[in-house]
Amino acid sequence: MFDPDTLPYFDPVSVRKVAVITGSTGGIGYYTCLHLYIHGYTVYMCGKNSQRVNKAIKDIEQEALTRANQRHDKKHNWYRYDIKQFGSLHYIHLDLKDLKCVERAASKVMKLETQVDVLINNAGIMAIPFEKTRDGFEIQLQVNYISHFLFTMKLLPLVENCHGRVISLSSLGHFLQYKYWKLSEQFNYFPNMVYTWFRYAVSKTALIQFTKMLAIKNPGVLCVSLHPGLVMNTNLFSYWTRLPIIGIFFWMFFQVINALFGVTNEQGAIGTLRCAMCPSLTTENDNGKYFTTGGIESKSSSIANNLDDAATTWIWTVHQLNDRGYDI
Ligand SMILES: NC(=O)c1ccc[n+]([C@@H]2O[C@H](COP(=O)([O-])OP(=O)(O)OC[C@H]3O[C@@H](n4cnc5c(N)ncnc54)[C@H](OP(=O)(O)O)[C@@H]3O)[C@@H](O)[C@H]2O)c1
Repeated sequence: MFDPDTLPYFDPVSVRKVAVITGSTGGIGYYTCLHLYIHGYTVYMCGKNSQRVNKAIKDIEQEALTRANQRHDKKHNWYRYDIKQFGSLHYIHLDLKDLKCVERAASKVMKLETQVDVLINNAGIMAIPFEKTRDGFEIQLQVNYISHFLFTMKLLPLVENCHGRVISLSSLGHFLQYKYWKLSEQFNYFPNMVYTWFRYAVSKTALIQFTKMLAIKNPGVLCVSLHPGLVMNTNLFSYWTRLPIIGIFFWMFFQVINALFGVTNEQGAIGTLRCAMCPSLTTENDNGKYFTTGGIESKSSSIANNLDDAATTWIWTVHQLNDRGYDI
């Protein structure tokens, strides 16, 4: 698998590199932040729960120090971690269930920074019961896609300022969408156990379509989407594993998948890190592409690849946001 040690390290005293990431309290986002921090980035960790984000900040700082010390102890000649060269970690309040909060979070970043080198749309929820947000969207569609659309569009001028990158975490689950469904189709049908997966697939397909359109509209910004791998020990599966009685069976099922096909939480972050930092990826060659586990180039579904459908998704989203008073 791709080795993040091969990615460039920056000295934050002489080079300012800024990353903004949604969802960093655990799972894939946590390890993405850890490596960005070790590589010298100023990282804005955007989350809805200050306690959880602040705990993640402390844990990452500690983990980075521990790793640096271990490498010193082993006297690795190839030692690259330098405590002085760690970046910094900052909390930004962001609840993707609330568009106003998304706009406020983007404004806060814009007040603090003039450039965003990497924007990582990582936060997500999966296959939970039907619910409508106060903005009137199905919850998975808003958290996984619509709020990330708004957040990205608000921060885009800062990303453009430094020819930065926008990385969006989609999912293998997007393949469940076998034909183009309108985003207004909410799939609020019985049984939830089936239709919730369709809602997840729609949100993750939309994120790939958004990435492709963004790449076409902004050729100076590298926009890619990816499936991080099957990372079975994150909180993404907690709704299913915490169900009374049958939760244990889901847990066992996920552990079997993990044993057969799974990767660790840290390996799940490798694809994002490669897309975010690897100098060999360029706007000329890679814009709009879809990657999979470990940052290997892959192919998204034919629905996600269809540019007419992608344009329809884009226009629908802009109208929905305009109708709610958000200028895109
Ligand atoms: N794990 C996998 O196998 C897998 C496979 C394919 C794709 N993915 C994608 O990879 C991404 C990361 O997944 P993960 O496995 O690391 O999941 P995770 O451990 O559940 O992490 C999800 C993150 O999203 C945040 N989040 C959830 N709802 C939010 C909201 N309303 N506002 C702001 N932040 C919110 C969570 O914050 P809190 O802690 O505050 O809730 C958490 O930090 C997701 O987009 C997921 O769809 C994962």
